[in-house]
Amino acid sequence: MNIGFIGLGIMGSGMANNLLKSGFNMYVFNRTREKAKELEDNGAKFCSTPKELAEKSDLIFMMLTDVRACRAVSEDKDGFLESLSKGKVVVNFSTVHPNYSLELREMVKEKEAMFLESPVLGSKIPAQKGELVILSAGDKEAFEICTDAFEKISKKAMYLGDVPKASYVKVVNNEAFATSLTAYLEGLAFAKKIGLDPEMVFNILNSGALSNPYFEFKVKKVLNDDFETHFSFENMKKDLGYALSVADEFKCYCPTLAAVNEIFKKGLNKHAKEDMSAVYKIFDE
Ligand SMILES: NC(=O)c1ccc[n+]([C@@H]2O[C@H](COP(=O)([O-])OP(=O)(O)OC[C@H]3O[C@@H](n4cnc5c(N)ncnc54)[C@H](OP(=O)(O)O)[C@@H]3O)[C@@H](O)[C@H]2O)c1
Repeated sequence: MNIGFIGLGIMGSGMANNLLKSGFNMYVFNRTREKAKELEDNGAKFCSTPKELAEKSDLIFMMLTDVRACRAVSEDKDGFLESLSKGKVVVNFSTVHPNYSLELREMVKEKEAMFLESPVLGSKIPAQKGELVILSAGDKEAFEICTDAFEKISKKAMYLGDVPKASYVKVVNNEAFATSLTAYLEGLAFAKKIGLDPEMVFNILNSGALSNPYFEFKVKKVLNDDFETHFSFENMKKDLGYALSVADEFKCYCPTLAAVNEIFKKGLNKHAKEDMSAVYKIFDE
């Protein structure tokens, strides 16, 4: 089985590495070629365009920033839609707007290929360790074809039904995650400002109902002034935008989401490339 992987950023590089190590024949494409170097050194073949990648691959996997990036590698000149054909499978792991996912499914269907939207839960380290959670929706047959590959990059892969159900779940996950982590970090900055030791407060909160492995991972880094990017601030701002758009479409009352989106908007210029936990710095200024 030949796998083509488009997008070798924080998440994609870990995922593509695990597939290569598991013995799949890998074709890779990344806008910035240097990021493919390690994979190329280990035997992956670099394609000069997404079109070439789709010619050579049975499964076309993509893990890109956003809707704009996905359109660039699929619809632009030399995009993979130009060479997509019957029987091939396109899997989009990127977090995108659910309505775009519906559009992409139609473009893939026109080529008689199969489509899965498959956003993931888990960040840089689970991507490197092959321990992501994959949420898939779309062609059931495609999900079955991908089972073996998904096993190499995830601890769990779930089939949820029709597009855009997986994108909806991902939007809700990131809404809940961003709003709750932001509130937690606001609390720590608040503690510091009223003269409490934030580390002492964290240890107490973490021994009670707020104990949670992901909060613990993020907050310990914040307390060590470590904002190395695992999930970028700008990507979380992007996901808050998708969540707000879906909330508007369904006329949902989401005031916490709206408030947290404003906080991320405020910090975007300064913290775009840092980890999303840099939202703490906005409260600590
Ligand atoms: N990091 C996480 O914790 C995490 C967790 C779950 C889901 N996600 C989602 O996974 C996706 C990837 O995240 P990431 O953290 O891996 O981001 P990243 O490190 O910023 O990587 C983004 C990738 O998209 C490519 N790209 C961006 N704009 C492009 C364009 N216009 N044309 C072609 N390629 C383009 C980049 O290419 P270049 O290398 O050339 O810039 C890079 O390969 C996002 O949708 C994110 O929301 C991330």
